[in-house]
Amino acid sequence: MKRIVFVVIASLIVVAAATAGRFYLAGNQASATQSTGRVSIGGPFQLTDHTGKAVSDETYRGKYLLVYFGYTFCPDVCPTSLGIMGDALDLLTPEQLDKVVPIFISVDPDRDTSEVLADYVPNFHDKIIGLTGTQAQVKAAARAYKTFFAKVNADDPDGNYLMDHSSITYVMGPDGLYVAHFSHATPAEAMAKRLAELL
Ligand code: NI
Repeated sequence: MKRIVFVVIASLIVVAAATAGRFYLAGNQASATQSTGRVSIGGPFQLTDHTGKAVSDETYRGKYLLVYFGYTFCPDVCPTSLGIMGDALDLLTPEQLDKVVPIFISVDPDRDTSEVLADYVPNFHDKIIGLTGTQAQVKAAARAYKTFFAKVNADDPDGNYLMDHSSITYVMGPDGLYVAHFSHATPAEAMAKRLAELL
């Protein structure tokens, strides 16, 4: 009886592993296809980092950028995405990590000041840079990345509004051009594996 149970469990593990492998391959092929096309994502931005320094897209030339748009008051999506990003960064070698600048751009600059971002981003990884700006600057950056965001329940009397926002992590090359992107569902291991191939 014990042996039968063992065989059943072993078979389930093999099936699960094969399924996971297939999904991973499918995802990998998708990002490989996306990275060969010249997609017009990204572009110039003028923002302020979490130390209060004015920065632009050119500040980070020569590095691969991981770009994610969100906001610090986000109850679930942003913490999950940034947690995955932080875990993926932890899986890179120091040499690979040195080539990457992970960036979190706030779509809620009214609440996300540099000081708020400075408290927030190190929770996920000490390399992550938080960027904010004026409403116009943030809108321009989001437009460049074809990223959607919108205020939800804007007339909440307590001002506890939420922001709808896309949850894609973009990979930009050292030349500032789009390389690939990861969906919200990409696990840290898959993200790290793909980054290691790119870097
Ligand atoms: Ni969010």
